[in-house]
Amino acid sequence: MDFEQLRQACTTCEKCGLCETRQHVVFGMGNPEAEVMFIGEGPGQNEDEQGLPFVGRSGKLLDQYLEAVDLYRDKNIFITNIVKCRPPQNRDPLPEEWDACLPWLREQFRIIRPRIIVCLGRIAAQRLIRPDFSVTKEHGQFFEKNGTWFMGTLHPAALLRNPRQKPDAFSDFVALREKIQQVCDHTYD
Ligand code: URA
Repeated sequence: MDFEQLRQACTTCEKCGLCETRQHVVFGMGNPEAEVMFIGEGPGQNEDEQGLPFVGRSGKLLDQYLEAVDLYRDKNIFITNIVKCRPPQNRDPLPEEWDACLPWLREQFRIIRPRIIVCLGRIAAQRLIRPDFSVTKEHGQFFEKNGTWFMGTLHPAALLRNPRQKPDAFSDFVALREKIQQVCDHTYD
């Protein structure tokens, strides 16, 4: 299956109950040849309405951090979420919803083959790095797993609630730029 076939299959997914309440599946956006992938938790209301990840206020803030280190969602990164459909009233996804959705993310990894995965927020970092990952203590550190580098940073929505953490997030993006320069081939071409 190629990337467009994967997108088609994902956007008609009915593997869990979230398909009954969603407006759109949020498959993800960006360059399928990107070496850097950003992964959030799951779509909120704006994302569900538009079918695109991180398009609300937190997405605007994310774009500012991205641009500061020459990353652009229509050019050299791919952005998606662990769960592709919005849970009603933004409740946390149920375990069976995570499990039903994870194969889509696995397939995205298989096709994109990112060198670096940035987890946006605790939920994504605990799912993809370690169940006891502490964003407060370990944000900005890189962990290698099977040839891919993982880093967890603060969720942009958390930065909107607590702007004092913005310098911490900024330093994570600076560390990301250095890592890209070390391990990526074409992100900054
Ligand atoms: N928060 C997320 O984790 N993902 C989105 O796509 C939007 C907000």
